[in-house]
Amino acid sequence: MNRKGIILAGGTGSRLWPITLGTSKQLLPVYDKPMIFYPLSVLMLAGIREIAVITTPDDQLQFQRLLGDGGQWGLSLTWIVQDRPEGLAQAYLLARDFLAGAPSAMVLGDNIFFGHGLPETLARANARATGATVFGYRVADPERYGVAIFDETGQVTALVEKPARPPSNFAITGLYFLDGRAPDLAAMIRPSARGELEMVELLERYRSEGSLEVERMGRGFAWLDTGTPGSLLDAGNFVRTLQDRQGMQVGSPEEIAFRQGWISHEALAERAALFGKSSYGTYLEAVLRD
Ligand code: G1P
Repeated sequence: MNRKGIILAGGTGSRLWPITLGTSKQLLPVYDKPMIFYPLSVLMLAGIREIAVITTPDDQLQFQRLLGDGGQWGLSLTWIVQDRPEGLAQAYLLARDFLAGAPSAMVLGDNIFFGHGLPETLARANARATGATVFGYRVADPERYGVAIFDETGQVTALVEKPARPPSNFAITGLYFLDGRAPDLAAMIRPSARGELEMVELLERYRSEGSLEVERMGRGFAWLDTGTPGSLLDAGNFVRTLQDRQGMQVGSPEEIAFRQGWISHEALAERAALFGKSSYGTYLEAVLRD
């Protein structure tokens, strides 16, 4: 069964300002494109075309205006509302009908991944039909994330969410490949002290049966955070530096769809025309000529 995608763009972390103010963070630009394009691109690089976008009730319309039905990128998008931010694992309950037993890849709407070999890394995770694959990444501030604990042999012995005293520097990124049992396993979890269905609890179910794979993303990868105004600006500068230097786009759904063979030459030309003389339009023209 083909793996389906989930982008979680709801949650308490979805705003830079208090939850009642402003727009969803994932709609803000990271340099030259909306933040959600980056995680969307990751799912597309993994070869996933059926994707559910989970938003707060207030934000859904704006996301729909931005992403449409996904047809312009050869995708099929499904829209799901998360009424209250009750945890990442809740996404699997909300997406149960959409998934219909299929394995999934869920990415958080504010996570940006970049690195040589990313498509291969994603393909490896995609190929594992059963169990769960998550990605560990060394960070300077693990207390802000879910953290993995390893034993001497490199086996993961536990996952802890935002530990005051982090047992390791390995954060678990916001990209989760789970098998088709995820909704059933999520249904067995009880809310934590902060009232959330915790992702680490769901992953613990896999770990305890020996089917959790923690793939390390090495130092050649960038996993960027947009959780603070400073890190958002840093992420924008990072994307700008790479794009200006290489003359290639990071996180262009048009380019990925075209290279994956999901949209035709004509369809890409149409998109390029839509963006006109902007640098993005010019770039798509160049991809067409390539
Ligand atoms: C969430 C997860 C955490 C993970 C992080 C990645 O935290 O709970 O385990 O490391 O995403 O971005 P949040 O950012 O929602 O606080």
